Amino acid sequence: VGLGPGGAAHRTPAATAAVRHATTVIGYGPYVDLAAELIRGRAIRSPIGQEATRAKEALALAAAGERVALVCSGDPGVYAMASLVLEHAVEFPGLDISIIPGVTAALAGAAAVGAPLGHDHAAISLSDLLTPWPTIAARVEAVAAADMVVSLYNPRSSGRDWQLPAALEILSRYRSPATPVAVVTHAGRPSLTTSITSLGAVDPGTVDMSTIVIVGCSTTRTLDGRMVTPRGYVP
Ligand SMILES: C[S@@+](CC[C@H](N)C(=O)[O-])C[C@H]1O[C@@H](n2cnc3c(N)ncnc32)[C@H](O)[C@@H]1O
Repeated sequence: VGLGPGGAAHRTPAATAAVRHATTVIGYGPYVDLAAELIRGRAIRSPIGQEATRAKEALALAAAGERVALVCSGDPGVYAMASLVLEHAVEFPGLDISIIPGVTAALAGAAAVGAPLGHDHAAISLSDLLTPWPTIAARVEAVAAADMVVSLYNPRSSGRDWQLPAALEILSRYRSPATPVAVVTHAGRPSLTTSITSLGAVDPGTVDMSTIVIVGCSTTRTLDGRMVTPRGYVP
């Protein structure tokens, strides 16, 4: 179940119903907390880094007859649990599994600063915990060369601080330093902060694990304080 970016206003009615009707809700602790007011059954707060164990536990509980909501932030299919669950589901044949979509961080972040995803765009995670950095760097370079807007997920954490400057350096080989860049933290939550800066001026110190960084393409501009990538209708 994708809970959306955080606040109840951006959670879909289908996600709300799935959590309400679950006999067990399982997820990384802070995500279980996001849905706390909806939980009527048992809540299992699972530690970070235990994603495979969590997926298998959710499947085993469902196989034992529970109605399980495995919750995550944003959309469950975007750098989250849905693919992992479906990979392990082959070990539990016959289970009834639904993927409940949610508003992913790129969309919530984009809406907070304007309309930067108005034309072709891509998403890249800068986490090299499961993907080797050369693979990530090659994808950043391909997107840079293709002149697409890119949303950078997992841009920076306390133990992973060089990947964002490295990705921005690759993008800078193809794009002007004036290219608009949005830095959005806690999108869709009361603690939201936004800044529209430029490729030449991004301060990685303003970015953490709750931030989405959206780098514009050659047509992206700032209009009246909003970041906009035109579709092309207005000459
Ligand atoms: C493991 S990914 C999970 C993505 C999530 N499934 C989604 O669809 O948004 C975690 C990353 O998503 C981004 N993110 C998640 N929630 C966010 C929010 N409310 N505001 C900004 N970025 C967010 C951050 O880049 C964070 O490091």
